[in-house]
This record gives sequence, structure tokens and C-alpha cells, in this order.
Amino acid sequence: MLPRVNPTNTQAWLLLKRHHEDEMQRAKIKELFAHDAERFSKFSLQFEDILFDYSKNIINAKSLQLLLQLAEECKLKEAIESMFTGELINETEGRSVLHTALRNFSGKPVLSEGKDVMPDVHAVQAHMKAFSNDVLSGKWKGYSGKKIKYIVNIGIGGSDLGPVMVTEALKPYWKEVQPYFVSNVDGTHIAETLKKVTPEETLFLIASKTFTTQETMTNAHTARDWFLKTAKDEAHVAKHFVALSTNEKEVTKFGIDKANMFGFWDWVGGRYSLWSAIGLSIALTIGYDNFEQLLKGGYAADEHFRNTPFDKNIPAIMALVGLWYTNFYGSQTEAILPYDQYMHRFSAYFQQGNMESNGKSVDRNGNEVHHATGPVIWGEPGTNGQHAFYQLIHQGKVLIPCDFIAPAISHNPIGDHHNKLLSNFFAQTEALMNGKTEQEVRDEFLQAGKKEETFKKLVPFKVFTGNRPTNSFLVKEITPYTLGNLIAFYEHKIFVQGVIWNIFSFDQWGVELGKQLASKILPELENEDTISAHDSSTNGLINAYKKMRK
Ligand code: F6P
Repeated sequence: MLPRVNPTNTQAWLLLKRHHEDEMQRAKIKELFAHDAERFSKFSLQFEDILFDYSKNIINAKSLQLLLQLAEECKLKEAIESMFTGELINETEGRSVLHTALRNFSGKPVLSEGKDVMPDVHAVQAHMKAFSNDVLSGKWKGYSGKKIKYIVNIGIGGSDLGPVMVTEALKPYWKEVQPYFVSNVDGTHIAETLKKVTPEETLFLIASKTFTTQETMTNAHTARDWFLKTAKDEAHVAKHFVALSTNEKEVTKFGIDKANMFGFWDWVGGRYSLWSAIGLSIALTIGYDNFEQLLKGGYAADEHFRNTPFDKNIPAIMALVGLWYTNFYGSQTEAILPYDQYMHRFSAYFQQGNMESNGKSVDRNGNEVHHATGPVIWGEPGTNGQHAFYQLIHQGKVLIPCDFIAPAISHNPIGDHHNKLLSNFFAQTEALMNGKTEQEVRDEFLQAGKKEETFKKLVPFKVFTGNRPTNSFLVKEITPYTLGNLIAFYEHKIFVQGVIWNIFSFDQWGVELGKQLASKILPELENEDTISAHDSSTNGLINAYKKMRK
């Protein structure tokens, strides 16, 4: 069981509040640097090939010490052990939370409800390895004897976003199979994808933990019908459709042979499932050895998280610094800004990771929460974002803590592109911190030979208040292993924040209501009757839709 500590009742919370009011709400990061020549080394951590610099935050030694005290008072250490040892910490669903077992290379057992899960994990991994090797080598052939050239992963949410993000981030590692991903129930998504593939050379991966998700099952049936139009014989389905799921009964009902099912377990949350059989599209795209490197990267980050004191623990620090802004500065959003084009879906992936996990307002005792919880997560790669939304980060009225992520070595070292990219990365974090004073603006005008009367009116618009916090991750190179490190760090950040906010991070009841109502409305759209069962807006929209579609 996870501890039940209302963070706002801790001594640390009160001290943090006072510390913020008395000292930090007026503190300037720039000045904190000016007063401490050692600030960078004090507030940065090196983990293998990743440098995590959190010195450009509005924190000092005392802030950190109080945040660490908060973690202690909220029993973070105990909570971490509860997760890793398979306690049923997903209490509202009565499940363990063991995505870490999927990347456990310790050789030690991991128990869930008294049973060691590792033999099953290893069996599925062996199946994934053999299967992906067979597909990539051409041993596994389509019904007409052709090699598999395309894979189409059909899944949504956690059964899509992780594989999409990882395969995109690791494009330099792609083998010979071209992956496609279909998630949306909008027919456009499957229709446009099917235009790019051929029935004889395509393997469909039906990725769904529950195997009941409306979008996925609709797309899966459409894909099957499309395939059978050419293949004719149902017996050929076995060569072209595999299932990644926990639900053997539904998989069999769909017509997929048990032998072509890659299983996982209810202790793997959907948004934490890329490490499981849901990662088969990753293994097929980059090869199983690279997939294993990803798992090993996750494992190394797990060991760091579990065994490192919190003052040197990257996910713990990420979480505490984030929480500092959410709960004491009123920040409502955080941006994740990878300076790596291949990582263009990283923020979208952690949008689900964070917002589905910590978008909660009821505490672990079932009571309403009175403190802020999960922030809105968003972001796009740099430098594109600079020319789109950075204006607001620099000069807007809201404080948006940002994570900057960049590799030191590019997979495409063309001319001076990478130095230009990285010069922007460094410049942005510096500019966000330093801003530009009125005096600096004036001096710039004067140095350019401008007269006071010509620039006077412009000065206020050119002032940047600065003091906008950032974390920087400088990664030697984005490899399967370092990507595994990064993903696991962000996952554990979410966990730490959920523990401290005293909420349950591993359920997602909030997505159910819309699903229920959609299933009630669907039959109403299947006839031409005028609908009056809802409020006047919903009735009006449904009836207008029925008229328009004619
Ligand atoms: O609707 C939310 C959700 O349950 C996510 O948590 C999950 O990742 C997604 O739907 C897909 O679920 P499934 O893998 O069962 O199809």
C-alpha cells in the first residue's frame, strides 16, 4: 500500500511556503549564479552519458533541502520499494505496477501477488526475439511466399504513442521493415496507411492491452477485411495478423491464433507498456538487440532511481523541482523541448504519461485534493518551437518551466547544422534565465547609433524579465540505451510527483465517461430519427449532423 500523507500537512510544506514567500519569490536565478561560482557543479548530475543540469532553476540549497524533506515526510523511499517489490499500489484496480520488471536484468525474481513474474517476462521476450529475427531475416513469409516489408501497428494511447515515439527517435537504427502506426478511429488514418502497403507484404500488429478498445478493434476489422479481399482465405490471416494483448479470450475471438499472441499482464499500465509485448513494433523496426538495449537503458535508470540518495537522484530531483513550481509558483504547464528532430514525439508521449497518470483531483483516501496536481505537458522540437510559441515562454504572463534535451553527437553531422542547433539550445536557456533589462535595451540602441527619441517608445517591448526556469539534459548521443535512460527518468518523475501529491498515478477513470457516452450515442447515429434524449446542445448537434451527412 502506498503511504497516505497529505503533503500540505507536512512540516516541509509549511517551510517551503514560508521559504517561497520570504525569499524565493523575489530571487533571481541570475543572481544566484553571481553569488555562487560553484552553482553549476552543485546543481547538476552526471549519469553515464547524460548530463542533467538543473542549476537554472529558482532554487537554492535551502529550497532543495526542504524539497528533499518533503519527499522524506511523504515516505517516498517506502513508496519506491512498494512499486519495485510488486505491492498492489494501483489500488483502485487492485494491481501491482511492474513495468520495471520488463526491463529487470538483475537476475533476481520480482513478485506480484506471491508469484515471480520473471519467467513469463522472459518467455514473451524470447518469443518476441525469435519472431522479430524471423521476420527481419525473411524466414517468416507472407501467405504468397513474399518477405514482410511493412508492419502496421494498430493501437491507441499507450498502445501507440510509445512505439511511435521510440521508432521515430531511433530512426537511424531502422532495419528493413517500414513501420506504420494507425491509431485514430477516423477512417482517414487507416485508409491513408493502407494506400502505402500491400496485403502480401504486410504484417498487422493489433496492439491493445484490453483488446476491446473501440478505435483499435474498428481499425483491426477494417484491416482484416482489406487483407481478405486480396488473400481470400481466412487461413492466411495467421501469417499477417498478430496480437499484443493481455486478453487471450478476445484475441482468439478476433481470429488470431494463440501462437501469434504476444502477451503481457495487468500489472503493466498502458502508458508504461512500450517495454512489454507492445514494443514488438519497436523490435521489428530496430531489431531485437536494439530493443534489448532500450530495456537495458531503462534498467540502468531504475537502478539509479531505486538506489541513489534523493539529493543525487535525477528523477527525484526532476519531480521535486517541477512540484516546486506547480505548488508554490502556481505554474500550470511544463514544456518538454527536445533539440533533436528524431525525438519529435517525445513530448506527446509524456503528455499521456503525465496527464493520464497525474491528472487527478481525488487523494488516496478518496477525498478531494486541495493542492495543485499534474501540470499540462506539451512541447515541440527546437528550433521549430522557437519560431512558434517561445514568445509566450519569454514574455508571457505565465511561468512555464521547460526541459531542454539535446544530443552532443548528431546522427546526421552535416556541415555546421549541429553547432547551430546547439547554439540555439544553449542560448535559449541562457536568455530565459537572464532576460534583458531596460538598461541593456537602451545600451543596445545607443551602440547601434540610434537616438533616444527614436527608440524610447520601443524600450518596454524589448525588455525580457527573464528568471524563467529550465532543466537541460545533454545526452552524448541518442541511442536505444540512452533513450531508455531518458524514458525511465521521466516515468519515475511522474511516480514521485504522484506519491507526493497523494494521488493514484496508475489508473485513468477520467477517460471512461466519454467512452460510455459515445457508445450510447453511436446507435442514435445509425438511424434517421430526430434525437431528443440529451441536453439541447447535444441534441442540436446530433440532429444537425444527421441532416448534413445526407
Ligand atoms: O482510454 C485510455 C486508455 O485506456 C489508455 O490508458 C490506454 O493506453 C489506451 O486507452 C489503449 O488501451 P488498450 O491498449 O487497452 O487498447
